[in-house]
Amino acid sequence: MSRLAIIGGTGLSKLKNLEFLRHQVVSTPYGEPSGPLSIGRLGGCEVVFLPRHGYNHRIPPHQINYRANLWALREVGVRHVLAVAAVGGITPRMSPATLVIPDQIIDYTYGRAHTFFEGELDEVTHIDFTFPYDADLRELLLRSARAAEVSVVESGVYAATQGPRLETAAEIRRLEGDGCDIVGMTGMPEAALARELGLKYACCAVVANWAAGKDGGTLITMEEIDATLKTGMGQVRAVLEQFLSRPDNPACFAG
Ligand code: HPA
Repeated sequence: MSRLAIIGGTGLSKLKNLEFLRHQVVSTPYGEPSGPLSIGRLGGCEVVFLPRHGYNHRIPPHQINYRANLWALREVGVRHVLAVAAVGGITPRMSPATLVIPDQIIDYTYGRAHTFFEGELDEVTHIDFTFPYDADLRELLLRSARAAEVSVVESGVYAATQGPRLETAAEIRRLEGDGCDIVGMTGMPEAALARELGLKYACCAVVANWAAGKDGGTLITMEEIDATLKTGMGQVRAVLEQFLSRPDNPACFAG
């Protein structure tokens, strides 16, 4: 049976309604994942949960071992990955506490281990990445949000920045000029590595704050981010519960 994984971000290091079954420590050729995988049941289906920043939220975005995380998930039979991510809002629709299901991404990160296709290769491989998020998973997420009566913005361009610092106002203006709607630090290389491994991947982003310079002269504080994420992650949980109780959800797919 193939499994669904939820990669939790800031504000979602635990899933309240996950009935915990067991932890599984997985070692990979790329090193250690962010922590042991939590295998549990939610909405009647078995899911694998992994907090991207570690269980104590200690791993900054640029030091996450994205390769080990995705490799470990595939190793335990995961074929579908739902990524939850906190982001800053750039364009007017992306106000704090909004949920967004992005459909495109631009990668501004650097120096991260971003591919499995390096070293001693039999051949050079270029994955197609025209549409970085899986269309079926996105559609299921959108339907789940409707069923949960949670309003979501149905598309958007995610700018993946290096962090861990937040951006300057000028950087955000540049990202907006590039067509980006939201900005976060973990979207890449996660999405591309999932594609390289053949995993279906979609993201549910929660806007934690207006991106730099988008709220007049107001500075961004961690207190603001944490407070907004509390509300936003409650809505994400509602969407996830709907998602996992759908008969067509991939957590329960056989094969
Ligand atoms: N920028 C980048 N990443 C983020 C932000 C932001 O403003 N808020 C939450 N994650």
